[in-house]
Amino acid sequence: MIGVYDSGIGGLSILQALRRELPEQDFIYLADSGHGPYGERETDHVLARARRITEHLRGRGVQALVVACNTATAAAIEHLRSEHPDLPIIGVEPALKPALALSRSRRIGVLATRMTLASDKFARLLEPLREQAQFVLRACDGLALAIENSVQGSAQAQADLLACASEHVQALGELGTGSGQIDTLVLGCTHYPFIADQLQALAGSEVCLVDTGAPVARQTRSRLADLAAPAPSGQGHIELISTGPSEGLQAAARRWLAPDLHASTVGLP
Ligand code: DGL
Repeated sequence: MIGVYDSGIGGLSILQALRRELPEQDFIYLADSGHGPYGERETDHVLARARRITEHLRGRGVQALVVACNTATAAAIEHLRSEHPDLPIIGVEPALKPALALSRSRRIGVLATRMTLASDKFARLLEPLREQAQFVLRACDGLALAIENSVQGSAQAQADLLACASEHVQALGELGTGSGQIDTLVLGCTHYPFIADQLQALAGSEVCLVDTGAPVARQTRSRLADLAAPAPSGQGHIELISTGPSEGLQAAARRWLAPDLHASTVGLP
């Protein structure tokens, strides 16, 4: 079984890709909904949650952990790896290099949380690429929360989500394929692929959106192969747990993964 976690429903976008890559693998997905979103909180909070969740999932017997959250990866993955050297831990980070390979205008927009963009890990990722393109960074305050709120959504929650997304996309400046325009947009938070259609409409159809689901899933498969463990013999079972109310997680999983999934709440203070 592989453990996958995020502050909420965002990591389901990574789980979608993991299921495509590893269809027989069993997964346990933990949404830290009682303690998220993470992006505008303190780094120490996100690190403490990462430690708590890793202990919990280890207790459930996971053979690998996917931190399906850019923010938690930036804040905690190095600590987790040194504290759990025997556990393969796979993280996600904004797809700057794939974006560079796609961009012709050499102007790339990056949408991510405030904590991700302020992290040392992100600075180290960006630094060697700065000479090759201009990266326009946008801390999307409120966007992950608006996506969470829209899942079981009232019309008002949908309207609020669109207004929030629109504000952040507009703040990037001109988008398009002309010179000096942003032609590639990195979705640097695992929540954002769920509004890819809305973002595409706001950015324009010529702009290329890049997320990290497929590469993370491939990397997970190769890490499992390194373990020399027997090939997954599960049936692709997915267990969904939330540290807060489970309705949003269940609704999101039914919409984006499979219509018969069930989510429950786990106490994990
Ligand atoms: N889905 C997350 C990420 O990839 C976290 C968003 C949040 O909790 O603010 O960054």
